[in-house]
Amino acid sequence: MTAQGYDAMADLYAEMFTDAYQYPIERQAAAAFAERVTAGGASGVVLDVGCGIGHVAADLTRRGLDVIGLEPSAPMLAHARRAHPDLTFIDGDALLAAVPEEHEIAAILARFSLIHVSPPDVAEALRVWAQRLPAGAPVLIAVQASDEPGPPIPFDHAVAPAWRWHPDELAHVLDVHGFAEEWRIVYRDPGYRFPMVQLLAHRR
Ligand SMILES: C[S@@+](CC[C@H](N)C(=O)[O-])C[C@H]1O[C@@H](n2cnc3c(N)ncnc32)[C@H](O)[C@@H]1O
Repeated sequence: MTAQGYDAMADLYAEMFTDAYQYPIERQAAAAFAERVTAGGASGVVLDVGCGIGHVAADLTRRGLDVIGLEPSAPMLAHARRAHPDLTFIDGDALLAAVPEEHEIAAILARFSLIHVSPPDVAEALRVWAQRLPAGAPVLIAVQASDEPGPPIPFDHAVAPAWRWHPDELAHVLDVHGFAEEWRIVYRDPGYRFPMVQLLAHRR
């Protein structure tokens, strides 16, 4: 797992992505996730895995969640801390080793960060998440998608090595590791080469 590309691109990334969401549907997916977490009533923090510059963590905080951002790239983390000094950001990655065991976790969000985790490591991350989350806890995963059923496909992401997932394959790997799908949104932009998916599941 590497955040190297993001180390070099952090300033540019922060300049380019001034809004947390590129498409209105993404804001709505985040809002639905926040409502789902609140309705679930579980105690604990919400992890934003691969939170980048922290803007989604800030939005979820405004929506009433107690969020911790996890981010392996030091420059991205520095941006997040500068922009949102009132929030908590930890140097960590999808395997959650940086999150102390005593931290109760109510939910996990991972937007366009698991794309940078190799498929075997995604499986390992989900195994860890399943161990750390209580039954019913929601996870929202967003990734670049594929229309071709089958295993994840490596693609030439501008910043770092990446894989895109067929939504059924993402649902399957979640299912195998103990998560039941609740909903998914597949969306497309005529100016972007791949479909994207936001998939919400809960720990069984
Ligand atoms: C496209 S950015 C998305 C940032 C943020 N989640 C958002 O929605 O704006 C991908 C982020 O994933 C992070 N990342 C890379 N490898 C990771 C890993 N193994 N675990 C967690 N995050 C990772 C990168 O450092 C980067 O900040």
